[in-house]
Amino acid sequence: MSAFRPETQVVHQPKPVLTGSSPISVPIYQTSGFQFEDPAVFADGMTRPDGAFVYGRYSNPTVRSLEEAVARLEGGTAAVAAASGMGAINTVLLGLLQPGDHVIAQHALYGGTAHVLDDLTERFGIQVSYVAEDDPAAVREAVRPETKLLYLETIANPMTQVADLPAMCAAAREAGLTTVVDNTFASPILCRPIEHGADIVVHSTTKYLSGHADILGGIAVFADDALYRKVWSYSCALGTTPDPFAAWLTLRGMQTLALRMERHCANARVLADRLAGHPAVVAVHWPGLPGHPSYDVAAKLLPDFGGVLSFDVAGGRPAGERFMSAVRLALLAPSLGGVETLILHPASTSHRHLDDAQLAQAGIGAGTVRVAIGIEHAEDLWADFEQALG
Ligand SMILES: Cc1ncc(COP(=O)(O)O)c(C=O)c1O
Repeated sequence: MSAFRPETQVVHQPKPVLTGSSPISVPIYQTSGFQFEDPAVFADGMTRPDGAFVYGRYSNPTVRSLEEAVARLEGGTAAVAAASGMGAINTVLLGLLQPGDHVIAQHALYGGTAHVLDDLTERFGIQVSYVAEDDPAAVREAVRPETKLLYLETIANPMTQVADLPAMCAAAREAGLTTVVDNTFASPILCRPIEHGADIVVHSTTKYLSGHADILGGIAVFADDALYRKVWSYSCALGTTPDPFAAWLTLRGMQTLALRMERHCANARVLADRLAGHPAVVAVHWPGLPGHPSYDVAAKLLPDFGGVLSFDVAGGRPAGERFMSAVRLALLAPSLGGVETLILHPASTSHRHLDDAQLAQAGIGAGTVRVAIGIEHAEDLWADFEQALG
């Protein structure tokens, strides 16, 4: 290279070649593409996910490390990462469904997913039937010849209903459906849906997997290689691929996932118990409380009950709004799964696309407050909630 002029040398930079050692942390391969000596290897890499790395929209080594890490955690064969949770969900739905298909989904869904399903109906004639998350008989009843897919959330957003995954996945399997489970709220530390019969697990990695509220990301994990290849190929066309830096931050965050989940769940237990005993609180929705409609399913399915809870303050929406302006430590902000405690009002934010009937069907009240509990000291959190309730 030293034989070339400076203009050429600044373009063609030396790349590290490691001999006798390798990095401890996964390196960031911040490159859009890869160079080849053999044109046949280049051509082959464009046709399959396990060929050579060719172009960032198809695959990237840092992104692949993330895909392998999450696939292994979830007990799947492979994964396709995306630039956001919605990117992963849309890649799966658009990659597998065709106009005229029918989908069965649970009533209580993340608002963004509910919005996408409505849109698929309006624009592509994909019909959707809704069932309760713990009613396999309703799945059997809803099946039609054109039904392709059952869509569930392990722990639903924001009222924390827990899907009866073994029973629901079994009903779907009998009818030859593909079951997709959004496992964002549980994380693979609390639940691995493939072990309960799911075919595809999706995550917003923006949340617990990355864990620090600093990236957007999503991932779909596959139990079956053929489904993986089909969706991978569609993801290349759709362009939902994440940036390597976001994949790297997700990998780094994931190293503390188990520790963080332990604290999120322990803090949730303290707040749920104390909120349930507070005179200004009408109802607390957390599946670890015996009165919660999903308590029995949750106790069978999960080793702990997650870090998100919702509650209703006496006095409805105005009282809920007053609570939200009175907290000092918890932040009024969207999202969940980071280390800071966040609160929001689902009816006007995350679930604003739902009409009154849909809100009621999902169990979301006009004054419901959702709390994504962080990893602060539980007593500091409770002191903040108590003063705000006061
Ligand atoms: C359960 C669930 N799934 C999917 C998403 C969408 O993820 P993202 O915001 O990363 O697109 C969210 C976002 O809040 C969510 O809560």
